[in-house]
Amino acid sequence: MLESLGYKDSLLDTTYYTYIAVMLASHLKIVDLTQYVSLPKIRRDFSQLTIDPYIREKYRRKHIVRYNIDDERNLIKAPHGPLFQSAAFNPVHGNIMREYPEYHPCEGVLSVIRHFVYSTNVQPDEEILVQAQRITCSLDQEGLPSVENWHQDGVKEIGIFCVSRDNIVGGVSEFRQHGSKMTALSEVLEEGSLAIFTDSPLEHRVTPIQVFDTSIGVGFRDVLLLSYPSNRS
Ligand SMILES: [Fe+2]
Repeated sequence: MLESLGYKDSLLDTTYYTYIAVMLASHLKIVDLTQYVSLPKIRRDFSQLTIDPYIREKYRRKHIVRYNIDDERNLIKAPHGPLFQSAAFNPVHGNIMREYPEYHPCEGVLSVIRHFVYSTNVQPDEEILVQAQRITCSLDQEGLPSVENWHQDGVKEIGIFCVSRDNIVGGVSEFRQHGSKMTALSEVLEEGSLAIFTDSPLEHRVTPIQVFDTSIGVGFRDVLLLSYPSNRS
């Protein structure tokens, strides 16, 4: 009788969605840092980023830097070096050494990195990769924040801090349980917000961006990508 009224299905749905909510809550959090950092100062850095030579359509700009932490969790800049990801995690740019200019963060960016350090389990013997990344779009070229679509980064923990969303639509951050086909969270990461999540239990992507006001003709999304380990070769 209850099953014929759909009671069993609704109970299963409720149980499933409760499970997904608990799973997400234990592996992902989004915090608003607008009271702690000066976005205008961070944005000035991003205007200096140069075009990523590994994207043929030229819609990505990227500079990188790495930091170690000491026993007191102070940030210590690490030697500059190329980026390397296994093809198992990055089928588009995996198994190649990618050379990027060194990023020179302002104090506001260091505050974001410190927040990431204190919010994760990063240990003194590990190294943090910081990527300053701009994705651009124009009337005839959308921008792809996630070239590989749904993916994992093959690291322990990840932070994504949104610096700017300028004249764009799209750029929606999405998460699902690893191995699932069902999106568990679909949300625009607002300027000044930091998403921190554990890589292995989840898959993530950011949807393409397009121009919002076509009379302006261009738009961009600036983010800081934080992760450890730091993808050295
Ligand atoms: Fe990623």
